[in-house]
Amino acid sequence: MCPRQFMSRRAFLGILLKGGTLALFGATLYPLARYLYPPRRGESSVSNVAAAKVGELMPNTAKVFRFGNRPGILIHTPKGEYKAFSAVCTHLNCTVQYNEEASIIWCACHNGKFDLNGGVISGPPPRPLEAYQVNLRGDEIIVAKQV
Ligand code: FES
Repeated sequence: MCPRQFMSRRAFLGILLKGGTLALFGATLYPLARYLYPPRRGESSVSNVAAAKVGELMPNTAKVFRFGNRPGILIHTPKGEYKAFSAVCTHLNCTVQYNEEASIIWCACHNGKFDLNGGVISGPPPRPLEAYQVNLRGDEIIVAKQV
């Protein structure tokens, strides 16, 4: 084997090893940096949205809708009232859902439970869900931030 060939093969392997090491660091550090310094998510600038049409929801059902850049949940209670909340769980930001059998708002992530006023029934959530105002405008159900 010629020394030049050996050196070039050695240099090639060195570059390959350094490149692989660099790629490994990048693949490890980038997600870690994104976790430690998440991108800023501005507060939703939307103050009200049409969450549903009147008659769209049967009593004891709910709908998750988009409220700016966050989810909201509109509930047509068993008593026929409309209630709306932020669908972002106050524990670790999972999206909550409506449990029709128990008529409660439920977070599947850690079994957090909220009543139909957004209050915590059980589980780890430290605070109630943010409540929104609900108004009817024509055939639309308008959900607005409380002032
Ligand atoms: S994120 Fe909802 S209970 Fe933990």
